[in-house]
Amino acid sequence: MRTPFSLVHIAECASTNISVLEYPTQTVLWADCQTHGKGRRGHSWESPKGSGLYFSLYLNQKANTTLPLSSALAVWNALTKLGAGNLFLKWPNDIFFKNQKIGGILAEQYQENCVVGIGLNLKTPNIVGAPYPLSDLTQAFLPQTLPNHQQMVESIVQECALQFQQTFCAQKWQSHALWLNQIVQLRTENGNFEGTFLGINDDGALLLSGFSEVFYSGSLRCPSCV
Ligand code: BTN
Repeated sequence: MRTPFSLVHIAECASTNISVLEYPTQTVLWADCQTHGKGRRGHSWESPKGSGLYFSLYLNQKANTTLPLSSALAVWNALTKLGAGNLFLKWPNDIFFKNQKIGGILAEQYQENCVVGIGLNLKTPNIVGAPYPLSDLTQAFLPQTLPNHQQMVESIVQECALQFQQTFCAQKWQSHALWLNQIVQLRTENGNFEGTFLGINDDGALLLSGFSEVFYSGSLRCPSCV
């Protein structure tokens, strides 16, 4: 499939999630470094040159609840096809190597359009007080098999294009889910919940044993897993 995206590679910007808005939709903006990289929940995303891949896809569609999950699935598919092993998806939009975070996704709505920002560690960040251990892409590949940066970005963009034209498949996402069937804690704005992580529904919402409601946002932990 020919990718519907145009890739623009720049040296630096504040945040690719913001700067990509200066381009037409269907642009992917990839920066070597970001001076004000953004993470989820108002956190910053440290983005020095050489320490990570930082890029954003500008989509001519509205964001929906499954967009971050299908983007994470695209990252999983692309990196696995390139030879990575032991990658997992942590609900809702993190990419883990074993029990360690190696990347994350920030999806943002801008009127009728949206931006999917993807950050992947090339070096393990030194973040004091991170909620879980951190790692980087070099761990997921055998020595000497780490693809070059352009290959990784292009493959992920290609997989995103594939995922975005399909209906989200909860089962596919779930087959790579971290902590499935484990007892997890979910922190939400409405309180904390504990139960067995049963999976997700077709909207990407989290299903927890003992709760009839489903959860669309929150921060997931597995105290006995890390
Ligand atoms: C998270 O908190 O896990 C999401 C991190 C998303 C970081 C990426 S890096 C490229 C894009 N630009 C940003 O400012 N943030 C996203």
